[in-house]
Amino acid sequence: MTQHFAGPCAPTTGNRTGWWRDAVIYQVYPRSFADSNGDGMGDLEGVRSRLPYLRDLGVDAVWLSPFYASPQADAGYDVADYRAIDPMFGTLLDADALIRDAHDLGLRIIVDVVPNHSSDQYEWFRRAIGDGPASPLRDRYHFREGKGENGELPPNDWESIFGGPAWTRVADGAWYLHLFAPEQPDLNWDNPAVADEFRSILRFWLDMGVDGFRVDVAHGLVKAPGLPDLGGTDQLRLLGNDVMPFFDQDGVHEIYRSWRTVLDEYPGERIAVAEAWTPTVERTANYVRPDELHQAFNFQYLGTHWDAAELRDVIDASLAAMRPVGAPATWVLSNHDVTRHTTRFANPPAGTQIRTPGDRALGLRRARAATLLMLALPGSAYLYQGEELGLPDVTDLPDEVRQDPSFFRAAGQDGFRDGCRVPIPWTAEGTSYGFGSGGSWLPQPASWGALSVEAQTGDTGSTLELYRAALSARRELPGLGAGESVDWLPGTPAGVLAFARPGFRCTVNTTSSPVRLPAPGRMVLASAEVTVREGEFELPADSTVWWSV
Ligand code: GLC
Repeated sequence: MTQHFAGPCAPTTGNRTGWWRDAVIYQVYPRSFADSNGDGMGDLEGVRSRLPYLRDLGVDAVWLSPFYASPQADAGYDVADYRAIDPMFGTLLDADALIRDAHDLGLRIIVDVVPNHSSDQYEWFRRAIGDGPASPLRDRYHFREGKGENGELPPNDWESIFGGPAWTRVADGAWYLHLFAPEQPDLNWDNPAVADEFRSILRFWLDMGVDGFRVDVAHGLVKAPGLPDLGGTDQLRLLGNDVMPFFDQDGVHEIYRSWRTVLDEYPGERIAVAEAWTPTVERTANYVRPDELHQAFNFQYLGTHWDAAELRDVIDASLAAMRPVGAPATWVLSNHDVTRHTTRFANPPAGTQIRTPGDRALGLRRARAATLLMLALPGSAYLYQGEELGLPDVTDLPDEVRQDPSFFRAAGQDGFRDGCRVPIPWTAEGTSYGFGSGGSWLPQPASWGALSVEAQTGDTGSTLELYRAALSARRELPGLGAGESVDWLPGTPAGVLAFARPGFRCTVNTTSSPVRLPAPGRMVLASAEVTVREGEFELPADSTVWWSV
């Protein structure tokens, strides 16, 4: 494998400059994007064949969810070999070809790194079990004696995010910690061998030419000393709302400072984005201090309802939290872990896991408006594959096809993530709508032919063409995506947002009634049909309009 480096940018220091500050980054979920060999499962060659589509869509970078060797107990977030590609996705040569082609097309590549836990099939864990209780490898995980007379009770009261206890007992009586599935044992980051191994894994992929990493469960690596009990609190309710003894511990930041020095050794501004579910945007900002990571997902934004006041508050709070650390704000509406925003907005507000289709037309209208709002904000935006087609979540998958491990573990995080992971429709007809020649690992709804890339291309009213136009305008309008603030315009009716950016205005109606407003300039793009007449226009219910001024 030859080494090659990405991009034309000169190396920089600190967080000030960079391609990533206003980048639009598209998440590919490899098993569901495109299947090149007809086995019903997407693969790297499939992704490579569709790179021109992503270039034409107008995104700057592609983030790939894990494609590493894995028993797939959690769709690849259980890694058995961090330096190998799972055969179901291809080979290292395929990864090399994908990275090269992407760079040739002007696209950057970001890969997932999963440092909180390995697979139980990772060599370290297999030896830790196989070599017995005295194995020094046990210290690379969290092995403990159980409580109770015979050690028959878990060492503490932590619960797995996927449901059930966070501990599993092995044959010799010891227990090990897994915040997710039992097949995902948590690594012990107090052991220097763990830290060394991950710096080496980062270098392996940086040498392969990747432009950055998405850090899985970035907030989970360090556990409070002594692994203290939570003390009977409703743990799942606290998640994301409070600092937990296993989440968002201050010790994680030392790890990211060390990772930053590795990233900065490479030319071309290699970046890392934290998946850190923290209680507040202020705590999220800690992950993107100038000597730590570059970006963190804005899950507070993702969780915000379609409500003008709530949106304005979270936008202001996000920008204010990032300003002191000099990091760009990020914006995201969907990913592989939450119900697609078309379906969230089609239902009454109820968290990020929804099981009913709701009012689809309403959901799509709001989703299109929400996208135009997001893409008008300063900072970097993340798109999840299929949202550009306006795909809804598939809420009626039969239980027997589901694969989300949390579906099978009672009482945990809602186990309905398969609904946003259904393979993408590319063509209006044919086997799996062009996803591949051998069907698809999750069944696609019959209505998806009409939502395919083929069906929407060239239809100016389609969601795909709206995304294309928005991403192209974002590139052309000077400074859209840049900067650190928005100027809210006074005098807007309740439920309406209007803000100014240099040379630009954005108007958003989150209510269910149209609103008449003076036209602030030349209309650039609208999420719904809008007519401007005599200096005025009617902003339809649930819509966003971009203006150039
Ligand atoms: C992250 C991933 C999710 C996975 C979990 C455990 O939250 O996004 O898909 O199940 O980590 O790795």
